[in-house]
Amino acid sequence: MKVIVLNDPIEISKEAAEIIVKQVNNNKGSVLGFATGASPVETYKRIIEKYEQGEVSLKHITTFNLDEYVGLSRENVNSYFYFMKDNLFGKTDVNFDKVNFLSGEAEDTDAECKRYWNKIKESGGIDIQLLGIGTNGHIGFNEPGDKFADGPFVVKLTQSTIDSNKKYFEAVGDTMPEYALTMGIGDIMRARKIILIATGESKAKAVKALVEGQVTPECPASILQLHADVTVFLDKESASLLGDR
Ligand code: GLP
Repeated sequence: MKVIVLNDPIEISKEAAEIIVKQVNNNKGSVLGFATGASPVETYKRIIEKYEQGEVSLKHITTFNLDEYVGLSRENVNSYFYFMKDNLFGKTDVNFDKVNFLSGEAEDTDAECKRYWNKIKESGGIDIQLLGIGTNGHIGFNEPGDKFADGPFVVKLTQSTIDSNKKYFEAVGDTMPEYALTMGIGDIMRARKIILIATGESKAKAVKALVEGQVTPECPASILQLHADVTVFLDKESASLLGDR
């Protein structure tokens, strides 16, 4: 695991965007795994800038997002589909036919999870998976528990995740769903390259467990220690509890 500590989210976004753009320019049909939340937003801005400057085209990429809330339609401002459209896809030449999402509106969630699993497999696998990390060490919506999940599944969100994310729902007078669909740890680990971004003091404990803790499903992100190609981008605050490196 490569750990890179930079000054601020802007510096991080430049490095992360550079890796992603390079991947796409080497292989226009790259398969990219994207994440939502505040952590990747600056990186998405840098990718949009590079697209606008003619440095990259996203026309031929295939995308898979990590997760989606159960019950939310794509038009709901708090759905992760909406987030991606608003923060990246809609501002570039991404082909929406190649955008893959777990559907929050699926009636048969097990069938939906199987469909997503097959789609990832048929795509040839994810070249780069971008990740944030929850304050409780979750990645995607793989919450702390007693085992690592392999493929996509339905998850009951923990109180800590609800406490972190409910502000976005309250802002528009909605209640946050208690369930979500998420890629499993296996899906994430099968990505050929992983980039994780964590900034701010609120992530410091989770980052310590990710980088220096035991590999345990109690901190789902800790399994990334076993992946051959992970780059973790931190700022000074999120790295503040790490030992000398
Ligand atoms: C959310 C998402 C994760 C994200 C994490 C951190 O709940 N499901 O994919 O990485 O929490 O979010 P943020 O970047 O806003 O801190």
